[in-house]
This record gives sequence, structure tokens and C-alpha cells, in this order.
Amino acid sequence: MVVCWSSNIKVNALVETRKVSEMSPEEIKDAVKDTYSRVAQPAGDSCCGPNEAEQTAADCGPSGCGPSSNPRTSFAESLGYSVADMPESATESFAGCGNPVAIASLKEGDVVLDLGSGAGLDMFHAARKVGDTGRVIGVDMTPAMIEKAEYGAEQLGLENVEFRLGDIEDLPVDNDSIDVIISNCVINLAPDKGKVFREAYRVLRPGGRVMVSDIVLDAPLPAKIRDEVVSYTGCLGGAILEDEYLQHMRNVGFEGVEVISKTGFGQASSAKIAAFKPK
Ligand SMILES: C[S@@+](CC[C@H](N)C(=O)[O-])C[C@H]1O[C@@H](n2cnc3c(N)ncnc32)[C@H](O)[C@@H]1O
Repeated sequence: MVVCWSSNIKVNALVETRKVSEMSPEEIKDAVKDTYSRVAQPAGDSCCGPNEAEQTAADCGPSGCGPSSNPRTSFAESLGYSVADMPESATESFAGCGNPVAIASLKEGDVVLDLGSGAGLDMFHAARKVGDTGRVIGVDMTPAMIEKAEYGAEQLGLENVEFRLGDIEDLPVDNDSIDVIISNCVINLAPDKGKVFREAYRVLRPGGRVMVSDIVLDAPLPAKIRDEVVSYTGCLGGAILEDEYLQHMRNVGFEGVEVISKTGFGQASSAKIAAFKPK
């Protein structure tokens, strides 16, 4: 089972048969990049693409292929995103598992950082909330996603968003410069989650907060699933136990670490998690 709409994305044939436990962190990141380069090019995975035969009628919708029938767009809508006023480039490559902007209580003037910004859907909603006096920075390691997000921002005429190619384990962001960190279904994909939280803590200003949606586990996964590259890139295999996730955050200094809500499916849940950097 995979959980961030990547189930129909084939991984590179060379890595498909490898075991995640035998791959280096860099090899794992390459497999993640390869997968999300494909998600950025939905002709390869949408109802209208070559994988059409793998889609069910329900995925494709009653109107057949087209923007409103893209399963990622429908999924984003089901999570509470308004999609009608968003560029198709952002909705057709949406790969989140929650809606962090909806709970982040963003206000005019906030400086927001989106970890793993993908095609930019969360960024664009956040940009409208923080207004002209605020700013939203997205970091993603997949060049095709950065290009796509920049295209979407141009379509919307947004001038308060900026995309940076980089690794969330080593953020290209200044110390103490961010008011709010958001992220949607990304930290589970990082081989070193401790590093991600250390970096998040470093770039937040004192009093700043984290509001993320991510996959956490309620019970350990069978080793076979943890070892499948496609489970890893599909946001399940790299997920860790909820307690371990929260402990990583506390270890780097975050306070008020809590799960605000979660929706479970099997051994995993999509959780909304909040934390603060002390003043
Ligand atoms: C599941 S998608 C989610 C994208 C976006 N947040 C959304 O909701 O549509 C994961 C994204 O995180 C990016 N990503 C994964 N690991 C990363 C890392 N270590 N550093 C930067 N970006 C990463 C991928 O390139 C991909 O765009």
C-alpha cells in the first residue's frame, strides 16, 4: 500500500528490485527524486496518460479525462483545498496527504517555509493568506517540481513566493528567519528525520511554529513492506512510529509537540502535527 498518490508511479527498473535496507541515503533520495519527477509529469500517470489502463473508472470520473477528472485534483478537493482558482499544474501533481495550510492560522506578513513544496499547491494558498507583506519559500530537491511550481506561481501572478532547489536535511535558508514551517507528506521520505527537525528548528525564529501533515505509524510495518522501494517512495515505507516522530521533534528542542488530529488506515495514519520553538 502507498499513501501519497504515487501508487501508479513506477520506480526506475534498476532500483525496483533493490531493498531499501541495502541502499545508501543518497540512493534512496535518488529513487524519491525519480518518482517525483514522474509525478511532475502527469502525462505519465494521469487518466489521459499511457497508464490509463491502470486507472479505474472511479479514478477518472464520469467526465472522462480532463482537469476535473484528474485523481490528484479530486483528492486535493476531498482534503478541503479549493482547486477551481488554482492552476492545473499545481493540482494535477498534488501529492500531499493532508491540508497543513488549513490549520496553520497564517496571518498577513508571515514568512512561511514549505518543506518539500512539490508543484506548489500549499504554497499558493499560503501566499494568499500572508499577502504582499508576507513571503512563502518552498524547498524541494526535485528540479521538475521546482520548475512546475514556478510555472504555477507565474500563472497566478504571485510575487511573494520563491522556490529553492535543495534538501530538507540541509536547508538553503538562514537561521531564525521563518515564522511558520508547513509540510505535506514529505518528512516520511527523508532518510534522516532527526536532521530535518534540527534544520527546521535552526531556521525558525524564536516563537515560530511548525504545522505539518505527514504519515506516521501506529505499529511497525512488516520488514517486506519497509524494504520495497515503491512503498518508500509512496510515503509508507519510510514512515516511523508516531511516538518516535514526536520524540525526534522534542530532541532538537521543540516544545508543545502534539498531534492535532489523525486519520488512520491500517497501521498508518495521516497526522497533523504542531510544535513551537521556544521564545
Ligand atoms: C509526496 S510529495 C508532496 C509534495 C507536496 N508537498 C504536495 O503536497 O503536493 C513529496 C515531495 O517532497 C520532495 N522531497 C522528498 N524528499 C525531499 C528532501 N529530502 N528534500 C527536499 N525535497 C524532498 C519530493 O521531491 C516531492 O516533491
